[in-house]
Amino acid sequence: MTGRDPDAQARRLASESLAAGDSTGWFERLYAAAAAGEATVPWSRGEPNRFLVEWTERLDRTPRRRRDGHDQRAIVVGCGFGDDAEHIAGLGFDTTAFDVAPGAVRAARQRFPDSAVHYGTADLLNLPAEWRHAFDLVVESLTVQSLPPPLHRQAIEAVAGLAAPGGTLLVIAAAREEGEQVEGPPWPLTPAEIDAFAADGLNPVQMERLADGPRWRVEFQRP
Ligand SMILES: C[S@@+](CC[C@H](N)C(=O)[O-])C[C@H]1O[C@@H](n2cnc3c(N)ncnc32)[C@H](O)[C@@H]1O
Repeated sequence: MTGRDPDAQARRLASESLAAGDSTGWFERLYAAAAAGEATVPWSRGEPNRFLVEWTERLDRTPRRRRDGHDQRAIVVGCGFGDDAEHIAGLGFDTTAFDVAPGAVRAARQRFPDSAVHYGTADLLNLPAEWRHAFDLVVESLTVQSLPPPLHRQAIEAVAGLAAPGGTLLVIAAAREEGEQVEGPPWPLTPAEIDAFAADGLNPVQMERLADGPRWRVEFQRP
């Protein structure tokens, strides 16, 4: 619709929600407005994130099996409309994808009715205990930065805690300098916040700071 500014709409919903002390309620309001044709979700691209696709091109193509013969498990954090999760499932991972907004999960299931992805509603800040250290690949793209900075550390620890022994975590996020003030959302991640993904015993494997954005694309591994 002409004259609609998706970023301004999202910011308005976010500021109302945050003023009421609710850090995540605005996501559902935005997805509901989008389903009613009254808003556009600013981060929806209709295709997987190109920084994720590029990274997955580096993965080897041998079948993704665990020692017990089952497919390797992947999880996509804050999956939105599901494009990244579908991409990961297409690589052979047994893929789980979750979002705090039921409207996002509903839309992802509608968009991909024959999907092999296990879509569900869950809150990164209160994850099911059985997901701890359970996934061979964890994909976090733009979710932590969508939360207010006081919640970043808790969200970062929760993301890192999903990676299984030997598992990989990929983080894609907008970047900012320490102390750089921003009026979010989003609230891009600082170098110290990126380092904090290693707090739960993960080791950094490859740290890229891409000029485009600027943004982080960082890979961690649990020994
Ligand atoms: C900026 S969008 C990014 C969506 C997608 N990951 C991408 O890269 O396009 C952030 C997503 O995270 C979800 N989200 C925000 N806070 C969350 C939380 N605490 N737990 C789970 N999902 C959350 C939002 O509903 C939204 O779909």
